[in-house]
Amino acid sequence: MSIRKTVQRQTVPAIVARKGGDPIVCLTSYHAHTARYIDPYVDLLLVGDSLGMVMYGMDSTLPVTLDMVIAHGAAVVRGSEQALVVVDMPFGTYEESPSVAFRNAVRVIKETGCQAIKLEGGRRMAETVHYLTDRGIPVMGHIGLTPQSVNVMGGYKTQGRSKEDWPALQDDAMALAEAGAFAIVLEGMVEELAKVITQAIAVPTIGIGASAACDGQILVSEDMLGLSPSVPKFVREFATLGAQIAGAAEAYATEVRARRFPAEEHTYKMQAPAKLTDDETL
Ligand code: KIV
Repeated sequence: MSIRKTVQRQTVPAIVARKGGDPIVCLTSYHAHTARYIDPYVDLLLVGDSLGMVMYGMDSTLPVTLDMVIAHGAAVVRGSEQALVVVDMPFGTYEESPSVAFRNAVRVIKETGCQAIKLEGGRRMAETVHYLTDRGIPVMGHIGLTPQSVNVMGGYKTQGRSKEDWPALQDDAMALAEAGAFAIVLEGMVEELAKVITQAIAVPTIGIGASAACDGQILVSEDMLGLSPSVPKFVREFATLGAQIAGAAEAYATEVRARRFPAEEHTYKMQAPAKLTDDETL
């Protein structure tokens, strides 16, 4: 019996080869059923640490643990078949040293089956990015507005509004690309700077709130599906699932209270008694 899958997953080299070409389409995903719906339409699924807010109602990504991203990462891998799956390294699991990052990234790769990991930080993480890629772990970088540094930044602030801030951010991008990152997320960045960085580096940039100048785009799925209580300026809601869920729950409650649900077609019955023959007749 053959267990070969017919659908080929996107690969890291295939994503890198898209630099400057057709936009790379990415969305976040945290569980199997939504991954199944999204997978056919995207190049990359990110199991972002934004799952802390989206799935657990936390007010930042800081409390997210390795076990949490591993559980959700494995679910997304099981629910998808063609997109490249990237899992976020949570705050505190990779910054200490390249070897700590390697140990934790290996757990993520082995226990989820994902193809790559993502970590936040520019030049300060370059040594770690090199260490990981050199040892077989593809790394996606993430610079600009880096939510794990919210306490250092003093909030979620758009980056690059002042030209004085550009050299450090350009250097971050260059350092990650040279260290071997296969793509770099640019988050919350002015268009002019995103354009300059995208033109300067050899690997794709993936923007979130960083304009159409990037090589690809990513959004938090729940934001673009209309499931989040509020969304930032850079999000377009492509659906209104929150309102649809509320409508469905209301309709269900009405039907249950009126005893119209469950109906006949939702109800199990005993088997009809077998017909007795003449001999069996009492
Ligand atoms: O955690 C996340 O969802 C992310 C994206 C915003 C890029 O890092």
